[in-house]
Amino acid sequence: MPPAAAVIGTPAASCQGALLAEARHQDTVFMMGDNPALPKMPERPTLKDFFLLRFGQIPRMHLLQSARVARENGLGEKVIMACLLHDIAIAGLLSANHGYWGAQLVGPYVDAEVAWAIEKHEALRYFPDESVGYRYPQAYVDYFGPDYNPPGYIRREHEAARRHRWYMTSRLVTINDIYSFDPAAVVDYDEFEDVVGRNFRQPEEGLGFDGSPVAHMWRTMIWPNNFL
Ligand SMILES: [Fe+2]
Ligand SMILES: [Fe+2]
Repeated sequence: MPPAAAVIGTPAASCQGALLAEARHQDTVFMMGDNPALPKMPERPTLKDFFLLRFGQIPRMHLLQSARVARENGLGEKVIMACLLHDIAIAGLLSANHGYWGAQLVGPYVDAEVAWAIEKHEALRYFPDESVGYRYPQAYVDYFGPDYNPPGYIRREHEAARRHRWYMTSRLVTINDIYSFDPAAVVDYDEFEDVVGRNFRQPEEGLGFDGSPVAHMWRTMIWPNNFL
């Protein structure tokens, strides 16, 4: 059963009734547990496991490439870490409001500045800052059309973020948020094991099982197709 957020407003929403009817047959059940179509996750999954076993090739490479560019630009580990994680929600959970979902996902495990930078990059992406060479992305013109205007809450978020002491951390995420989706450009996750080791508090029980307020979000990425 596809989750409502994925199908509302699309033709796929109409499959829900049929699937519920189907489940009344004795030999048909909804998925609850490991989806055989996905690689099995270890019992105590780490950030690396989500990168390698759950995230798609395109978002995975986008995150790794952004982190690599940040490192090549000589930026600090907080910025590298924020770049590595900035679109983690798009990679494994939800695209709409991805900065906020992403910041919540990693909040218990990273420095507050890293989570803040991830949350605010979503709004900052829409607004140029010529003083540091950040222009409105051509990709957004392609994605949303030349007349797209971000809604009021995004404008207010941007204005507040600009006055915040961590503004430049989040701005640097947008500067290193490169649009190289070339599938041939491969970056190895292991390049960042050291940065992750120092900047991500991996829970001993595994992500999804540490009883944190966001554990359910990681479990949703382990079993994204569960009915409940
Ligand atoms: Fe983003
Ligand atoms: Fe991005």
